[in-house]
Amino acid sequence: MILTSFSPNFIDSKCEKPTFSVCMYQSIQEVMINFIFSRYNFLFLRRYSLIKIMKLKNKVALITGAALGYKDGGASIGSSIAFRFAKEGAKIVVVDILEEMGKRTVQIINETGGTAIFIKADVSKTEDVKNLIQSTEDRFNQLNCLVNCAASYEGDIFHNVMDTPEKDWENIININLNGYFRMAKYSIPLILKSGGGSIINISSNAAFHVTKDFCVYPVTKAAINSLTRTLAVDFAPKIRTNSICPGFVRIANSENDRTPEELQEWIDGIAKKYPLKRVCSVDEIANIALFLASNEASYINGQSLSVDGGYLISDTHDF
Ligand SMILES: NC(=O)c1ccc[n+]([C@@H]2O[C@H](COP(=O)([O-])OP(=O)(O)OC[C@H]3O[C@@H](n4cnc5c(N)ncnc54)[C@H](O)[C@@H]3O)[C@@H](O)[C@H]2O)c1
Repeated sequence: MILTSFSPNFIDSKCEKPTFSVCMYQSIQEVMINFIFSRYNFLFLRRYSLIKIMKLKNKVALITGAALGYKDGGASIGSSIAFRFAKEGAKIVVVDILEEMGKRTVQIINETGGTAIFIKADVSKTEDVKNLIQSTEDRFNQLNCLVNCAASYEGDIFHNVMDTPEKDWENIININLNGYFRMAKYSIPLILKSGGGSIINISSNAAFHVTKDFCVYPVTKAAINSLTRTLAVDFAPKIRTNSICPGFVRIANSENDRTPEELQEWIDGIAKKYPLKRVCSVDEIANIALFLASNEASYINGQSLSVDGGYLISDTHDF
């Protein structure tokens, strides 16, 4: 700092180019700075973010529903979390029923310097889930983070209770809720064996409010938040469990055969209802998942975090 305060004396103020004496001065300054920070180099560089510390280095994360979405493989919430975690050093187990798109997620991670494997599994089937955990153990011998993200919107489910066919109700419960239970049940032993870790359940703001004629999906999400609290109490302090409750998130599957104009019009209509006047991106959910999985959230347990741009607390929307 003292040296820096002398620096104007060495600047050729007319041409504003460094003179010979400035070069000499700069070399001396560099040597002194190197000397001063040689012992504390690492801490110094860390402090000023010149060295990037990976937040999930040496961790293994399993993410269900992490296939890329829609026709050309755009982002889904699960794949976006997979990419983010891989960038932070985690080895990733990508799980989905969609083999081709699941392998695409893995290919992108492996081609960009990460490590990932794909395991095809249906979370509604106990045998698939058991095999999946066994394969994870065989391959990595550890599991530190489970992200439950797989969910289905299939069937005749946009109805009230009276009109929802029982088989469609049961199918959604079996995937969207029981799938989370099954994944937790069979992965917890491996997480404990690995020294503990974190479970993140992708829930929804639908857990907190009702949309007319859409009954089963919110019921699963409300139950997931309750499951989150149960897990958080039963498996603390070894495992922290939290859920993320997004509002509307734009994913590749939002395209759903809409023309670009139709898609934009639809998204704009939704965005209007949000105080932030835009919808959420998959990256914004991945950031929260990373935070909850990392040590930065080391005292957060059993929470259901709304990531909805203020939707729930505002009166700018109509329920
Ligand atoms: N997109 C949103 O607006 C939004 C909002 C709130 C919550 N969510 C939640 O985010 C999570 C991810 O959804 P998304 O929006 O990325 O949709 P998505 O359809 O792109 O992702 C869901 C994934 O789950 C997979 N899947 C479905 N059934 C499965 C099964 N039985 N076994 C294994 N995998 C299965 C699908 O193949 C798909 O890849 C879901 O839990 C969803 O409820 C989404």
